[in-house]
Amino acid sequence: MTHPRDTCSAAVSAAMKLLLDRGLERPEVAVVLGSGLSSFVDGLGDALVVPYTDIPGFPRTAVSGHRGAVVGCTLGGKRTLVFSGRVHHYEGCSPDDVTFSVLLAAELGAGVFVVTNASGGIDPGFDVGDLMLISDQIAAVSGARRLPQGTFRMAGAYSERLRALARRAAADRKIVLREGVYMGSLGPTYETPAEIRMARLMGASAVGMSTVSEVQAAHSRGLDVLGIALLTNVPLPGRFHGTTHEEVLEAGRLGAGALVSLVSNTLERL
Ligand code: HPA
Repeated sequence: MTHPRDTCSAAVSAAMKLLLDRGLERPEVAVVLGSGLSSFVDGLGDALVVPYTDIPGFPRTAVSGHRGAVVGCTLGGKRTLVFSGRVHHYEGCSPDDVTFSVLLAAELGAGVFVVTNASGGIDPGFDVGDLMLISDQIAAVSGARRLPQGTFRMAGAYSERLRALARRAAADRKIVLREGVYMGSLGPTYETPAEIRMARLMGASAVGMSTVSEVQAAHSRGLDVLGIALLTNVPLPGRFHGTTHEEVLEAGRLGAGALVSLVSNTLERL
């Protein structure tokens, strides 16, 4: 009998083979881009672009604002594989689909996993367009079933060493960098005012619909994780008017420049 785990690792191997056949050099770093952040990869020079649709077994994303391609490039002097677009639990995707890019990056030999996302700022001191270094996470949804040991310790999943480098990079580039806890919810709905109050009480600084399962998978495979959230809306009580996807995408487009600058400067310091 074929176990689902074998099916998934065979699919990851097939995807890896296609990328290497297309000329991808084994990456040192993998970066996953969140909603509206596809312009991150614009102007990266001698990039190798492979659409997800060309890659066997690669889950497809249907969410607007996600380009749907793997980009091999050099960023901050490091061989980098960028996943421009991700799939989410709320699209009905399986845990294997949501973590496929992580498994592929690990199989290709990447040692650093940079996860980015668009999220709502819960901390009243945050502003739209701020970047937030993720120090820890709350998995209000969790789907990384395919951990090698079955269960896994998550303390320290967001590398303190990488966070220190990112803080220095932000200071160098004069980028405002907040720091806090990310809560990953199932989505697809943005939070109600009551859910925002709950998230704040639970200690979250930002909330989004991705990231947590990817980071579980990455940490369990020994990748050093750097997480950066772009705060595309700050749904504070009183100011709350209901977040829209268009507002998230627009803020993502505006914030992508600072994000690429922060990530490349951080990678230069590795
Ligand atoms: N909530 C959840 N996900 C999000 C948000 C939000 O406010 N903004 C961008 N993604």
